[in-house]
Amino acid sequence: MFLDPSYNSLFAAYLKNPVQTPAYIYSNTKLVENISVFKNLFDKFGVTTHYAMKANSNSTILKLILKAGLKVDVNSLGELKKAMSAGFLPGDLIFAGVGKTDAELETAIQLGLKTIKAESIQELVVIGKIAENLGIPVRIGLRLNPEIDAKTHPYIATGIATSKFGIDKRDIPASIDILRSNKFLNLTTLDAHIGSQITDLNLFVDVFRFLSAQSDEFYKLGFKISDIDLGGGFAVDYDGSGNSTLPLLEDLFSQIAILNDKKFNISIEPGRAIVANSCAIFSTVLYTKRNGEKNFAICDAAMTENIRPSLYGSVHTIVKIVDEQYAQKSLYDVVGPVCESGDFLGENILLPELNRGDVIAILDSGAYTAAMASNYNMRPLSPEYLEKNGELIEIRRRQNINEWIENLEIPYEG
Ligand SMILES: Cc1ncc(COP(=O)(O)O)c(C=O)c1O
Repeated sequence: MFLDPSYNSLFAAYLKNPVQTPAYIYSNTKLVENISVFKNLFDKFGVTTHYAMKANSNSTILKLILKAGLKVDVNSLGELKKAMSAGFLPGDLIFAGVGKTDAELETAIQLGLKTIKAESIQELVVIGKIAENLGIPVRIGLRLNPEIDAKTHPYIATGIATSKFGIDKRDIPASIDILRSNKFLNLTTLDAHIGSQITDLNLFVDVFRFLSAQSDEFYKLGFKISDIDLGGGFAVDYDGSGNSTLPLLEDLFSQIAILNDKKFNISIEPGRAIVANSCAIFSTVLYTKRNGEKNFAICDAAMTENIRPSLYGSVHTIVKIVDEQYAQKSLYDVVGPVCESGDFLGENILLPELNRGDVIAILDSGAYTAAMASNYNMRPLSPEYLEKNGELIEIRRRQNINEWIENLEIPYEG
């Protein structure tokens, strides 16, 4: 198994300062390294990255992304506000999402975001009406459903004909009628996002060809498309097999640059590829036991910290922090304290003997983990730390459940 050296720095920093678990610990070095891959795509091929902040919206991470000159893809008013509070300007933001509310659209139009993506003809009509009422023209991206199978888990495949995302090809003529009838709708972009954890990068060439061919059709009808957005979904090496797509992106975009021949501005929306392998969740073993044929390690982290294994059957590498290299190993189900059989972080994981009080790390936990965390079983959200030069810097506090009860609940005793 390949273990990125940045994890050794996280382990050393934790051992020097064993903060209370469960905790997310991010590697500053790894984040900067990943971000620089995308900065390089801009410098070499003019490809603009809009970081899909749904993957991880911690302000410290957003600021690192801002500092490198990348832009952001937001999916809600909350994300929009958070991006702007981190320092992004409205012109840095594109607004995606299949179900934007009228209030969200109104704010986005008033702020003048770079692009608002329409995901259905109904939404296009609503955006047009709001823009007209406000008297503000809006730059529109059409998210098309290219019917390209991303060959990934069904829950993260978004470009097939039966998915809820994007505009059906058959609705393109109706979209054109709407665009023609409303002068506040200014079509600039064609977009597709076919899914996540995509290992076959040739699919992005297929998406480019599809969008480029569509833009030719739009051109014949009087619409000049300036931007093509190929979405995100570049696969991460979750299982330690060395199959990261990051080193292959330069080749992919040099190929796309040749096909594009400077006709369109190309952009992408990676999320996990920037953050996933920058973080480990540190967790303490509370109890061990054997039920039937299985060894269980019951830890203080749970599906509330990382729901990916139970949601998508995702596999994360799990290691014991002080790994006795030559210790005999056994298979463990690493589970949390939450009252769900689906509350597991890993099944049949080969680990050295675990005992109460041992600390383990669930690797590659930077994407769709803290961002998807929940309070189920009244568990407080866990803190986040950034490891920089061997020190741990707290970048999000552990949630205080008392404050939550006092501030959010309105007791009714009638
Ligand atoms: C529209 C859109 N763009 C980009 C992404 C980012 O995907 P990933 O984190 O796999 O790169 C997502 C993820 O759901 C998405 O829905």
